[in-house]
Amino acid sequence: MENEKNWQELRTECASCEKCGLCKTRTNVVFGDGNENSKIMFVGEAPGEKEDLSGVPFVGAAGKLLDKYLESIDLERKDIYITNILKCRPPQNRDPLPEEQDACIGYLREQFKLMRPKVVVCLGRISAMRLIKPDFRITAEHGKFFEKGGVTFCAVYHPAALLRDPRKKEDMYIDMRNIKKFCDGTLEK
Ligand code: URA
Repeated sequence: MENEKNWQELRTECASCEKCGLCKTRTNVVFGDGNENSKIMFVGEAPGEKEDLSGVPFVGAAGKLLDKYLESIDLERKDIYITNILKCRPPQNRDPLPEEQDACIGYLREQFKLMRPKVVVCLGRISAMRLIKPDFRITAEHGKFFEKGGVTFCAVYHPAALLRDPRKKEDMYIDMRNIKKFCDGTLEK
């Protein structure tokens, strides 16, 4: 397709992005990581400090916990693709501003178009509110599957929320198992 960028072009464009003020405070753009041909695309909120320093998403404490959940469904990072709504770290890890999300969302759209995953899994409320619906309620609606514009979405708790409240961990295991089943075509409706 003529107008479609390839992964390398998109990554290069994103690396020099100046569409919002976060370009002034970032160390690295955190574009995304993992398998670009995977059926599953995980989308978090925004890079934190470790991600900003390394340029890789979910490498801090929350990311290590996410790896355990992936392991619990026999997946590794190399089997999935992972990125964020924002590609640059907001100072002091504050919530992404609407205008920052608006400036950055085009990169995610392009990533999605190139990848065409079977399911997009939102990690946490901010991602779910942006990608599924603005009034998304993570406590009530985590683990549910949504169809939107021919795309299947699901949201799970953000791993940082699980670190704060371990009582949510069992729900996370259940949601992750169902996402795996959905991808394998064995989820009973
Ligand atoms: N939290 C996120 O939402 N994304 C990261 O990359 C790291 C922590």
